[in-house]
Amino acid sequence: MADSPEQFRGKSRLPRFAEPLRYDLLLRPDLAACTFSGSAAVAVAVSAPTRFLVLNAAELSVDGSSIRFQDLAPTEVVQFEEDEILVMGFQQELPVGEGVLTMNFTGTLNDQMRGFYRSKYEYKGESKNMAVTQFEAADARRCFPCWDEPAFKAKFKLTLQVPSELVALSNMPVVKDTVHGPLKTVYYEESPLMSTYLIAIVVGLFDYIESSTLEGTKVRVYTQVGMTSQGKFALDVGVKSLDLYKDYFATPYPLPKLDMIAIPDFAAGAMENYGLVTYRESALLYDEKLSSASNKQQVAITVAHELAHQWFGNLVTMEWWTHLWLNEGFASWVSYLAVESIFPEWNNWTQFLDETTSGLRLDALAESHPIEVKVNHVSEIGAIFDSISYDKGASVIRMLQSYLGAERFQKALASYIKKYAYSNAKTEDLWAVLEEETGEPVKDLMTTWTKQQGYPVIYAKLNGQDLELEQAQFLSDGSSGPCMWIVPMTSCCGSYDVNKKFLLKDKTDKIHIKDFAASQIADRGQNFWIKLNIDQTGFYRVKYDDELAAGLENAVKTKKLSLMDMIGIVEDSYALSVACKQTLTSLLRLLNAYRHESDYTVLSHVTSVCLGVDKISADATPDLSRDIKQLLIKLLLLAAKRVGWDPKDGESHLDAMLRSLLLIALVKLGHDETINEGIRRFHIFLEDRKSSLLPPDNRKAAYLAVMRTVSTSSRAGYDALLKIYRETSEAQEKSRILGSLPSCQDKDIVVEALNLMLTDEVRNQDAHDVLRGVSLEGREVAWAWLKENWDHVLKTWPSSQLVSMFVNYIVSPFTSEEKAAEVSEFFATRVKPSFERALKQSLERVRISARWIKSIKREPNLARTVHQLLLQEV
Ligand code: BES
Ligand code: ZN
Repeated sequence: MADSPEQFRGKSRLPRFAEPLRYDLLLRPDLAACTFSGSAAVAVAVSAPTRFLVLNAAELSVDGSSIRFQDLAPTEVVQFEEDEILVMGFQQELPVGEGVLTMNFTGTLNDQMRGFYRSKYEYKGESKNMAVTQFEAADARRCFPCWDEPAFKAKFKLTLQVPSELVALSNMPVVKDTVHGPLKTVYYEESPLMSTYLIAIVVGLFDYIESSTLEGTKVRVYTQVGMTSQGKFALDVGVKSLDLYKDYFATPYPLPKLDMIAIPDFAAGAMENYGLVTYRESALLYDEKLSSASNKQQVAITVAHELAHQWFGNLVTMEWWTHLWLNEGFASWVSYLAVESIFPEWNNWTQFLDETTSGLRLDALAESHPIEVKVNHVSEIGAIFDSISYDKGASVIRMLQSYLGAERFQKALASYIKKYAYSNAKTEDLWAVLEEETGEPVKDLMTTWTKQQGYPVIYAKLNGQDLELEQAQFLSDGSSGPCMWIVPMTSCCGSYDVNKKFLLKDKTDKIHIKDFAASQIADRGQNFWIKLNIDQTGFYRVKYDDELAAGLENAVKTKKLSLMDMIGIVEDSYALSVACKQTLTSLLRLLNAYRHESDYTVLSHVTSVCLGVDKISADATPDLSRDIKQLLIKLLLLAAKRVGWDPKDGESHLDAMLRSLLLIALVKLGHDETINEGIRRFHIFLEDRKSSLLPPDNRKAAYLAVMRTVSTSSRAGYDALLKIYRETSEAQEKSRILGSLPSCQDKDIVVEALNLMLTDEVRNQDAHDVLRGVSLEGREVAWAWLKENWDHVLKTWPSSQLVSMFVNYIVSPFTSEEKAAEVSEFFATRVKPSFERALKQSLERVRISARWIKSIKREPNLARTVHQLLLQEV
């Protein structure tokens, strides 16, 4: 075994005795046959005596007889499919030093949106194939044999042989191309040191538009032929982001060019390949007449995110997937910084609390995981591209920045980028630079947040003139863990000018209010309030005692608080209710304090809480559920009336977002007037697609309204929507419709929508639109559908994120122990590492809801409070 290829099986990482320095790669995709062939010449540094070379390969056939290391042919060549490695054994030990490894191989252009794959598009009425790559996390090995780990950085020189009429792009600019008949050979410049997961190739028919940064870097957006006008917005955001990051990281954009391209079939939202960023169409293309305000924002955030990676991720790369959050958390955080500066009127940092909210919600599960997570097998990597790496990651960065101060933080980041440019870093490396630059105990502080899962809830109690604090892990199932955090605390009392900052390091602590707010505490009357976690910069929740909670409720009502704090209060309160640490009754009272609110950022959280309450009350208190709906409608109605259905001249971006948000929520809550108006406008729109009565911001609400009238015996609305779906070529519109079809209350229609997803009419990339849209009434049939189609689902959406999404969307809406048991039983023999965590998390959510329901049923004052609040004047 010691001297056999077997010794390399079952390892999480490749051995390091031989490392690649330079790859010379030739690839010949055959777009008609959906195959490719290639050859590689890799300069390898052998650093320790070995008889073996070990690298990654998957779903490739490597021609064993073509392999040479210098002039040596291997005596054994073994491919271990499960470990995705290729082991070459040579007769004798290889000489230490540099040598060149060459080989030929072939593979398939698959249709799984990973590795080297084909995507389909229409050109002049004909269906065509394009060849595209998606290598993150570990799929470069499906295109060419390579050391497919982020720490094996090497230089890459690519050559492509493709049909002469096609555009062929890669990370680097073209050096030359030579046409020989129907084929051309395209040679690209050699790249700087980079990781394999960032290599990209796209071959197809495209048009482009171009602009350039202040430094003169050429930036292009490629779209399908004739569609470049939809790329202008992204191009503009792209150029501005590059200029901004260059200053922020104090390092120029590292490559000679940047291309961004829309791909019709794309698994994620976008991918930051070095110099050739790929996007799904809906995340790159923007058309004033066709896109909604929220589409616009999504494009801006996505572009800003991917371009941030060109520094954070591509220039400086995580050493291993355990540190993925360094990539994703930072790119997410910094994208808000860029978008805030390009579109200050979007109030982007307040919107950042969407990220914090999803991080907090996921991390309140016992089945969450630490930000820094151990990766034992390649199959586990996909599952960590989740809200913990992205949203918790971004949120703890914001927490740290706010603790250290923006300027110091930026300076330290710039040093970090300089220090690790063209190489790799671990989480500790970042902490070390930050400590050095700021002299603060960054490592001790941050380790409690990145190496432990979960986060604390701070219990705050007023005792005379002291504020007593106690931390405990917050879990949605109501339990509590033993973990402790170093918590950067902030508090203010009666006014934002009267505030205090400190670190909570122990289980309990006390602050003397009179030390910083003597007069406020002395005559605390009706308007007395204390808010902890100012502007929600900390990644934790706060549970106030009754007196403090009442003070804050009053402060919400009287508009004393920042938007971010208004959001924090309602989010914390909702989470505490779910965990049965607070009654639904008191949550409803608090929600009532927001009924005069008119700001989008706040209302987006209020609305999401309202919809959560609506959902649970349907199962918890069926008799009261109608009244609760009425109450929730009443809460949103004032703001909804203000924005109405028709856009006002020159209204703000956020009001456009607000209109869409509220109309959708009112339809979901069953508000008849909104539903009828939606249907009325839909019919006008059907006759005249250019009608101003249904601009893109309002369409989703109207489509959902229409679907509420649909049933098997009266299906005109479904058919009308499907007709629009078939006629439009626009991805954002398709996504709105796909999300509406399964929202029907008729179960057979839900199944019809799910089955539509399996046909050629819906791209596999769009499954999540459908799954996310399934109505509460449809959850049983969706589950039955999943069981029936499980093998097909697993085959068609094999990657971790995709299959996890099916499990998560279909299982999580259930709310009973029995259902959880049934789901567990079904998966007992079927579970795989790629979706195991998603399954456990979904089951945990089901059990949390079941527990919440039991507790709601026992609330003595719920019905009375609902009726009281319903009667109260607005
Ligand atoms: N690196 C990711 C893309 C990715 C995700 C690759 C999962 C492999 C697995 C990219 O930078 C990213 O984070 N994209 C986001 C968009 C963003 C705005 C958060 C996405 O795809 O949703
Ligand atoms: Zn990213």
